[in-house]
Amino acid sequence: MEYITLYNGIRVPALGLGTFMISPEDTEKSVYAALKLGYRMIDTANAYMNEEAVGKALKKAFDENIVKREDVFISTKLWPTVYEDETAVDKTLERLGLSYVDLLFIHQPAGNFMAGYRQLEEAFKAGKARSLGISNMNGEKLERLLAEAIIMPHVIQLEAHPYCTEQEIMGRLAEYGTRMMGWYPLGHGDPGLLREEVFTKLSDKYHKSSAQIVLRWHTQKGFMTIPGSRNPDHIRDNADIFDFTLTEEEMAEIAKLDGTKKYYIPDEAQVERYAEMHLPFEG
Ligand SMILES: NC(=O)c1ccc[n+]([C@@H]2O[C@H](COP(=O)([O-])OP(=O)(O)OC[C@H]3O[C@@H](n4cnc5c(N)ncnc54)[C@H](OP(=O)(O)O)[C@@H]3O)[C@@H](O)[C@H]2O)c1
Repeated sequence: MEYITLYNGIRVPALGLGTFMISPEDTEKSVYAALKLGYRMIDTANAYMNEEAVGKALKKAFDENIVKREDVFISTKLWPTVYEDETAVDKTLERLGLSYVDLLFIHQPAGNFMAGYRQLEEAFKAGKARSLGISNMNGEKLERLLAEAIIMPHVIQLEAHPYCTEQEIMGRLAEYGTRMMGWYPLGHGDPGLLREEVFTKLSDKYHKSSAQIVLRWHTQKGFMTIPGSRNPDHIRDNADIFDFTLTEEEMAEIAKLDGTKKYYIPDEAQVERYAEMHLPFEG
């Protein structure tokens, strides 16, 4: 496993397991399998409705001495409807069965997102979150957050893959040292991405799958990457990417795809609707 270091010195595994749109049953199985295979980072969120399942898999792995709490990096995200609920962080930790998370995000720039970010800062000061993150944030909302934040975000989660690397936002964040954790790293499973000629060519050269080439590209870009999977073979293969290195020329060839596609482009009204979308566990 390779690691990247955040601006506050926290080391983060370059690759972890994503759990978006994975049922609690499959999440528990996938997280446990991933930990057994050597994964040391798991990403979840209030809205994925599987934090308890992540917690169960972690507990099993801790009980079986597969991994220690301090060696695994857990990230989760507060949903906009709980940004003003001061019990939200404790309830999140309770669902995960943890006393702290390694990275805590505000999931969407909707509603009173500064209240959500203040909760993150309080959690950081109280030792309940070791680093802080923002997600899906750009434009005026990002500027407001940067102007008002007391603790600058350590990480931003944005859609990122060879078609889209968000150079402008990452350029804006460079002075704060905020690092990219890309979501949809495999284009949410888009076969078109994996069939791009540049990846099939490199796949032949390195005897790796196109998905492995794409994930290696992410880590060589300096991105933390969190491919989602419920398939044990994919979970194993996705972590097996650290025994080869793409050349500068190959990285430049892949860069030609940049800026050509984004899978998810919400408008402002859509984003604001997230502040009204209550989660079932809110009661
Ligand atoms: N902050 C946000 O708003 C946000 C939004 C979306 C996602 N995320 C996070 O980012 C993570 C990654 O995004 P994602 O899971 O939606 O998309 P993704 O990782 O780009 O793609 C997942 C899809 O790729 C398939 N896949 C995985 N490994 C493969 C392989 N080796 N070969 C071929 N197909 C493969 C999976 O199917 P199998 O199950 O069959 O392997 C699944 O259908 C999420 O799980 C979540 O943690 C964050």
